[in-house]
Amino acid sequence: MSQIGPEIVLGVGGGIAAYKSCELLRRLQDRGYQVTVVPTPSSLNFVGKATWEALSGRPVSAEVWENVHLVPHISLADKAKFFIIAPATADLVARVAAGRADDLLTNLVLASDVPKLLIPAMHPSMWLDPATVANVQILRSRGFKVMEPDVGRLTGSDSGPGRFPETAAIVHEFDQLTGNVSDLVGKRILVTAGGTRENIDPVRFIGNRSSGKQGIAIANAAKRRGADVHLIAANVDEGQVMGIETTHVFTSQEMHDALLDKFPGCDILFMSAAVADAKPKSISIDKIKKAMLGSIELVPNVDLLADISKGKTNQIIVGFAAETKDHLSEARRKLESKGMDVIYVNDVSGGAVFGKDETMGTILTRNDADIAVKETSKDALGNLLLDQAIRQLG
Ligand code: CTP
Repeated sequence: MSQIGPEIVLGVGGGIAAYKSCELLRRLQDRGYQVTVVPTPSSLNFVGKATWEALSGRPVSAEVWENVHLVPHISLADKAKFFIIAPATADLVARVAAGRADDLLTNLVLASDVPKLLIPAMHPSMWLDPATVANVQILRSRGFKVMEPDVGRLTGSDSGPGRFPETAAIVHEFDQLTGNVSDLVGKRILVTAGGTRENIDPVRFIGNRSSGKQGIAIANAAKRRGADVHLIAANVDEGQVMGIETTHVFTSQEMHDALLDKFPGCDILFMSAAVADAKPKSISIDKIKKAMLGSIELVPNVDLLADISKGKTNQIIVGFAAETKDHLSEARRKLESKGMDVIYVNDVSGGAVFGKDETMGTILTRNDADIAVKETSKDALGNLLLDQAIRQLG
């Protein structure tokens, strides 16, 4: 199961605030991050592995001695784009500052040089102890971002600096670290992804090779930038769209119905699904015997974009084209004939792009100069297309 969106590690230290990181995990997933939780062994006294596995949808290890053949401390460190460690206890802060590697999390921290955010949470006297103060200073001098804990009442009757901050404040701090901008707050973005399928009989269908990755990347990028996102997904894994509000569809007709329902309430539509162009004239109730499969009569499907754009008020429509020749002229023709405002065209000769994480092509709009997109990730293209759509929306 492959997923789209930056991979991050959520490290969890052994403090009572570990339970608050369950909510943090959810909010990070909402913003399109693919999160692997790495608890310290002692933190499992507060929140167990099963909880983290259920919430993250991924296996969870605390020690380097599990799945040794996969060399987890190196493979995870290579994959993660950012770390967030919450809560970071006095002991964990000390171990990281000392460069220790005595559990999976500290191994990962040492093995990876990506940006890291620590959220300390501990009793005020531990936070203010000269040893912790010096350790925090060391971490900051090495480029770790260490958030100031909140001031207030702690688990017992004491109060002071050391409280685990509000989840929203942590997510905000993390956004600063990752360079996320929240410029799409209040924007409603509708995205289609995947490939529709047309039934031939109870066991067969006509389909296409769309992986859905580009649409899901756009949905995740829009979420990270604060938009309200709805995805209409045709035949993609549930796991790929975790955290995104999704309507699952199978056929073009079902996608059409979902679009008619959702389009009037959106600001921008990204039509990245590969819609089957034709369907069998009739669907056989019984499985067709192979001797009878010499020919299947097809009828054309409705062009969903061309139809939906007729009901356009202020929406911006972004479409896609996958061409094997005459890319630019074909793209311009489709842009105009289907009522789009922006189109991204890529070269799929030789099966390029399908299922891959990178793409290369051209963005065309009605009035602006074409933008050539050099080989880039589908995530980065998602952000580029969002920028263009917002520009057109004014
Ligand atoms: N599209 C659509 N409904 C269809 C076919 C395509 O909404 N029945 C949308 C796609 O989602 C895409 C755009 O139209 O955003 C262009 O898709 P493409 O398959 O390139 O267009 P076609 O008109 O099918 O062109 P061709 O004749 O080259 O297959």
